[in-house]
Amino acid sequence: MNDRLFIFDTTLRDGEQSPGASMTKEEKLRIARQLEKLGVDVIEAGFAVASPGDAEAIRAIAETIKNSTICSLARANERDIHAAGGAIKPAKSGRIHTFIATSPIHMEKKLRMQPDQVVEAAVKAVKLALEYTDDVEFSAEDAVRSEMDFLVRVFDEVIKAGAKTINVPDTVGYSIPALWGERMKQLIERVPGSDKVIWSTHCHNDLGMAVANSLAAVMNGARQVECTINGLGERAGNASLEEIVMAVRTRRDVFNCDTRIDATQIVPASKLVSTITGYPVQPNKAIVGANAFAHESGIHQDGVLKHRETYEIMRAEDVGWNANRLTLGKLSGRNAFKTKLAELGIVLDSEEALNTAFARFKDLADKKREIFDEDLQALVSDEGYATEHERYKLVSMKVCSETGEVPHAKLVFTDDGAEWHADGNGSGPVDAAFKALESVVNSGADLLLYSVNNITSGTDAQGEVTVRLAQDGRVVNGQGADTDIVVASAKAYLHALNKLHSKRERAHPQV
Ligand code: KIV
Ligand code: ZN
Repeated sequence: MNDRLFIFDTTLRDGEQSPGASMTKEEKLRIARQLEKLGVDVIEAGFAVASPGDAEAIRAIAETIKNSTICSLARANERDIHAAGGAIKPAKSGRIHTFIATSPIHMEKKLRMQPDQVVEAAVKAVKLALEYTDDVEFSAEDAVRSEMDFLVRVFDEVIKAGAKTINVPDTVGYSIPALWGERMKQLIERVPGSDKVIWSTHCHNDLGMAVANSLAAVMNGARQVECTINGLGERAGNASLEEIVMAVRTRRDVFNCDTRIDATQIVPASKLVSTITGYPVQPNKAIVGANAFAHESGIHQDGVLKHRETYEIMRAEDVGWNANRLTLGKLSGRNAFKTKLAELGIVLDSEEALNTAFARFKDLADKKREIFDEDLQALVSDEGYATEHERYKLVSMKVCSETGEVPHAKLVFTDDGAEWHADGNGSGPVDAAFKALESVVNSGADLLLYSVNNITSGTDAQGEVTVRLAQDGRVVNGQGADTDIVVASAKAYLHALNKLHSKRERAHPQV
């Protein structure tokens, strides 16, 4: 029988460390419900000590999710571990993931600690974490640049102290598959008691090898992989969950292990994470990219028509493409709408919120014949933005764009309920709309990114716009969705401004 490969999803923690990807409690809960549906074994829900908001989100996820273990990250110090322990307390199954850096450069320059002190802190942290849960994971940060003998010593000590999972991270994405596999193999051979723990790997993608390195570790004995949906994460991201899961499943002949992931939930999870974080998925991304199963060349099309497996190693429907996508239409009633939201794991917390969302759904159904799951996710996200940080709200807008004329935009929006009128010219209608808003708001924020994606196919599809703004060192992503992409853009801009103005401060301690 094949071994079980545990999937530890860190979209809500390492993924959230991507610029502007910080999520609200409600957004995290929606993603956590989808991760549970997907069947991930462990959800790293956040870093409890980072902010009261983070701790609250972990607690809410711990209260809600029953079929995945809920984990909080904690540095190897008392304050972090108490915060993590408190946050995971309501969980049916809770884990504390404590870590400390073990490489010479991190110990000397960042921690300013001697190796003996690092070992002592690691052991103390594991013991303290065990007072909250018997499921304690230990990570040696920057293991990739740590000395092998020292890693063996630290891991030996934390296993003796009671850690059940030992995670070996390539924090800076520096390794290559042959070396990473060899490192895992040697650790398992050399660390006393290595057969009593689950070996885990956590790889970053700085050289584009996070998935390959993770798989090399699996081939050499790792039985937990830490990964994120769409490979979201710090800098170039983390290993992507969908690629790991499908590689192991598609190449059962090579990997003698499998996960309990329901692969048909992969694409819905990918779309949800992309909608909520504002990180679009590149079209040629493996498994979840729009072109992942599209055959352009005539030879390929001909082959696939004759016998699918000539050019396809996986089936699109097996990873959730096209599954149950057609959702509702113009004639659907409030009850059908409510039931569909529940099926998608969307819980609106009041009748008023449901009524508003339903009114918006009817509005959308007037413009768009078929409403898909993705439209509903975007619609509820859009509504979520409006209710949560309500300072600015779009009321109406008009844009004029004509060949040979300067594009012009007129907008009406509210600022804490007071109505404002804004006018602006620009190089295009979107630029004019943003300039008009700025002429009144004067945020002075820098526009770092503007992107538009169609949520579903067809020219009547909703466009989903992401606007990334930076102000005084804070970076936020704003999203907006509408069948009119200029309206979606104005909504996204206002959403980003709302986030900049929100009081929810997030101070991420250095990870
Ligand atoms: O990349 C890293 O080393 C981490 C640890 C906290 C596991 O994210
Ligand atoms: Zn990481």
